[in-house]
Amino acid sequence: MKKFPIVASMIAITVIFYNCHSAKKATSSVPPPPPYTYETNLKVVIAASCSPCHISGKGNKKPYDNFANVKTDIDEMIRRIQLNPSDKGFMPFRKAAKLSDSTIAVFTKWKADGLIEK
Ligand code: HEC
Repeated sequence: MKKFPIVASMIAITVIFYNCHSAKKATSSVPPPPPYTYETNLKVVIAASCSPCHISGKGNKKPYDNFANVKTDIDEMIRRIQLNPSDKGFMPFRKAAKLSDSTIAVFTKWKADGLIEK
């Protein structure tokens, strides 16, 4: 009979520790979203939107299937894709419509995230 309080308190301690542990785990187990990188996020968008003109071997404009060129030109790229189709310098060249907001956001978020290669 004397053993009962000890067993009971051990169970209580176990339950408390378990709950504290899992509560802590729940808050820290959601990692922040990874930053956008050229390789993962931007390259596919450029391949789809700026092809063939800016893809080496396909077009004869400055190649943007190339991290270094994109990193250097990102401000000008963002400026041009935000113009209207009737504006001088608009990209993608001679297309009737602007890129979608979500596509433009990939360029701007990549810049905001720090121009990471991969
Ligand atoms: C149909 C062909 C075509 C497509 C598609 C195209 N461009 Fe261009 N791009 C051109 C031409 C032609 C020029 C040169 C004339 C000029 O500067 O306006 C150019 C020039 C540029 C320049 C200036 C480069 C420099 O040498 O300073 C940038 C920046 C640019 N394009 C960005 C883009 C981006 C970003 C996309 C995709 C969203 C894109 N372009 C899609 C044809 C294209």
